Amino acid sequence: MGTVFEPVRVMPWTRICRVEDIPQLGARVVKSAHGDIAVFRNTEDEVFALLDKCPHKGGPLSQGIVFGRKVACPLHGLNIGLDDGNAVAPDVGCARTFPVKVVDGEVFLKPVTT
Ligand code: FES
Repeated sequence: MGTVFEPVRVMPWTRICRVEDIPQLGARVVKSAHGDIAVFRNTEDEVFALLDKCPHKGGPLSQGIVFGRKVACPLHGLNIGLDDGNAVAPDVGCARTFPVKVVDGEVFLKPVTT
């Protein structure tokens, strides 16, 4: 009997915008089948993508304050790691992350489900 391969859903990278189109220390919201995705840019021009929904009570993280590699939720101030989506201790919770990359100043997002 041959090997059975599980179907893998491969999503293409989607071009979103240029890095400079995202406000520094801010975010741009991208609509997706999974809900709004907040694409953040910090002072180092690093770009991160999180579901635009705080793990606490669903606050819009895209309207939060970015500092370093974190964002503070605008509703109750939970601090969320931009790279892993985890709340900073002692708070708990995790915002969903999405793969994002920058190529030649262009931002690409992969709105996949895993
Ligand atoms: S909804 Fe984000 S801290 Fe409460």
